[in-house]
This record gives sequence, C-alpha cells and structure tokens, in this order.
Amino acid sequence: TTQVINCKAAIAWEAGKPFSVEEIEVAPPKEHEIRVKIVATGLCRTDAHAMNPCFKEGLFPVILGHEGAGIVESVGPGVTKFKPGDKVIPLYMPQCGQCKFCLSPKTNLCDKISKVKTPISDQDLMLDGTSSTFSEYTVVGENSLAKIDAAAPLDKVCLIGCGFSTGYGAAINTAKVEPGSSCAVFGLGGVGLSAVMGCKAAGASRIFGIDINKDKFALAKELGATDCLNPLDFQKPIHKVINEMTNGGVDCPIECIGTIDTMKAALDCTTVDWGTCAIVGAAVGGQAFPVSPMQLIMGRKINATFFGGHVECVPKLVLDYMAFNLLQEGKSNQTVLVFKGSA
Ligand code: APR
Ligand code: ZN
Repeated sequence: TTQVINCKAAIAWEAGKPFSVEEIEVAPPKEHEIRVKIVATGLCRTDAHAMNPCFKEGLFPVILGHEGAGIVESVGPGVTKFKPGDKVIPLYMPQCGQCKFCLSPKTNLCDKISKVKTPISDQDLMLDGTSSTFSEYTVVGENSLAKIDAAAPLDKVCLIGCGFSTGYGAAINTAKVEPGSSCAVFGLGGVGLSAVMGCKAAGASRIFGIDINKDKFALAKELGATDCLNPLDFQKPIHKVINEMTNGGVDCPIECIGTIDTMKAALDCTTVDWGTCAIVGAAVGGQAFPVSPMQLIMGRKINATFFGGHVECVPKLVLDYMAFNLLQEGKSNQTVLVFKGSA
C-alpha cells in the first residue's frame, strides 16, 4: 500500500481557536518512515497549551496530538525494525541512537530535538517526523516510534506516550524518590496522578497531593496519596502548611501544574540538606522562575524532566502496565479518544 490515504484529522488552524475535524491526505511513508493507523490518542494538557492564544510563534495550521497508540499500516524503503501490523507508540521525542546523548545512559534528550525550545513548541519535533495523533493516519520517522507488545490494549497504553511516563518517570528518574521518603505532588491531573503512582512504586512513606480541585483527592488517595491538601482551604501559603506538617519540608516535591507560583511553592517546601524539587509542568510563555541562591546553598536541588527522563523504555513501560495493570485506576482521569471502527 503506497497510496495516499484520505482520512479525518482534527486541525488547529490558529492559536486560541477550537480544532476543526476535516478530511486530509496522508502521504505514503518515504525512506525510513512509517505510516501508522492511530487507534487511540490521549488529550494532553500540552496540546491545550498550544491552543492558548499566547502560543503565537507556532506554525499553523497543525495537527496536534502526541499521546497515541496504533498499528503500522505500511513502511517506507529502508525500514527494518517495523512491519505492517506491529503495535506501536509514537515517541514525541526521537531517539536517533547515534548522537552523544543517545549513546549515554544519562539522558533521554536526543540531539535531534531542539533543546532551546519548550515542550509546548512540539511542532519542531513533528517536522522531523514525530507524531500528529489527532488523525486517523500519521507518518513518523523510524527513530520516533516504539514497537510494543502485540497483546497491549491500545486504548490504555496510549497514555504511556506522554502523560503517564512523564509523571511516573518524574518520581522515579528525576526526583529519584527513595523508600521511606516524603513527597508532595502539586497538581493531580493525569501527570500528577502518575507521579503519585511513581512515588508509591518507589516506596515513599508520605505522599502529599495538592490540588485546588478537591474532586481529584479520592483517586489520588486510591493511588497512594496519604495527605490531600487544597490550597484554597488555608489562610497561609501551601508551602508553609506543608513545612509545618513535615517539620521543615519534604524530600521530593514534584510540580505537575506548570505555573511559576506552584513551581516556587514546590521549591519552598523542599527540605534543606538533601531535598530534590522536580519540575514537570511546562509554563506557557517562557517566564522565569525565581530561585534564591540561599535555597540552593542550603542543599536543595532542582531537577526537571522531559518525558520522565526515560531512556528507551516505552516497550518496557507497556509490559509493566500489562503485568500490574498500573493505569487501570488512573484512566478515568484522562480523556482518551478511540477512533471509531478501529481494532
Ligand atoms: N494549585 C493547585 N492545583 C492546581 C493549580 C494551583 N494553583 N492550578 C491548577 N491546578 C490543578 C488542576 O486542578 C488540575 O487537577 O492542577 C491539575 C492539572 O492537571 P491537568 O490540567 O490535567 O494537566 P496534566 O495533563 O496533568 O499536565 C500537567 O504537566 O506535562 C505538563 O504540560 C503539562 O503543564 C502541564 C502539566
Ligand atoms: Zn540521538
């Protein structure tokens, strides 16, 4: 099958405007490219960022979506790792396997992505072949695709393409949560709840969940949060509340909201001497976040993550999911679109 495919896609024509579902033509895969039939896709907050009117520098029109799972429809010349019928997850970050960063086990940030851009400028990544998953078919480069287990349920594991891996990995790889430690997850959306699961899996003994929407607390507690706090319930700033409850702050605050204020609150409740504050949320507009040198001199560390810092582990996360059904409870929190008529 080397024909153009006509299918439906959700197109963003300009910043701040709703998507429009229209018929598009999807070209056959060129050399080292793969055409994928997208079966399910998550709706991630980062896609909503791109719909923010201040996201003007973006290249429009564009088909967003970077949290999908599907089946290989056809492969271009030179593709050896994939064949039609393989179940796959598009990677919103490429892994070329050859640059100095790919050759190092220390990072997942391949040289092929533009590191000066924020995650919301995903479009650069798409140009070099990553995913546009709000479409029934999409073409991706072979470095931007992970083959997963044939038995994987695509409507669930699509979240491994971004939200789940980002939050879970922030706890495991970025904050490096240790058994018995204390954590505070700011924001209990899809990313934050995944971070709660990561903290629990890493053996944290106290996990604060912070959100201004108390409806998130029941699920957070089911997944491992020990204390849920709504900042709106307190007269004083939330970092002070946490500092008092923990005798000086937690080992690993994890920010999963994306505002400067909540990043600052996370750092302000990081314990002196050894605490690591992990920043996961992406702030729109590239504002700076204030850090006093004293906070760092006193032994606090700040770390940040892109895609949870995972190195080549999407197929493994899928297997973990299948073994432990880890996402089962989390799924009701995040919207997944399943394309009609798909397997
Ligand atoms: N204080 C506490 N909670 C807040 C605040 C605030 N000031 N503002 C928002 N929240 C809560 C919301 O109520 C919501 O439950 O943060 C949560 C955010 O969840 P989602 O909107 O579902 O976002 P999510 O997909 O989890 O992504 C979070 O991570 O990868 C980044 O770009 C992504 O910046 C985004 C962040
Ligand atoms: Zn690379």
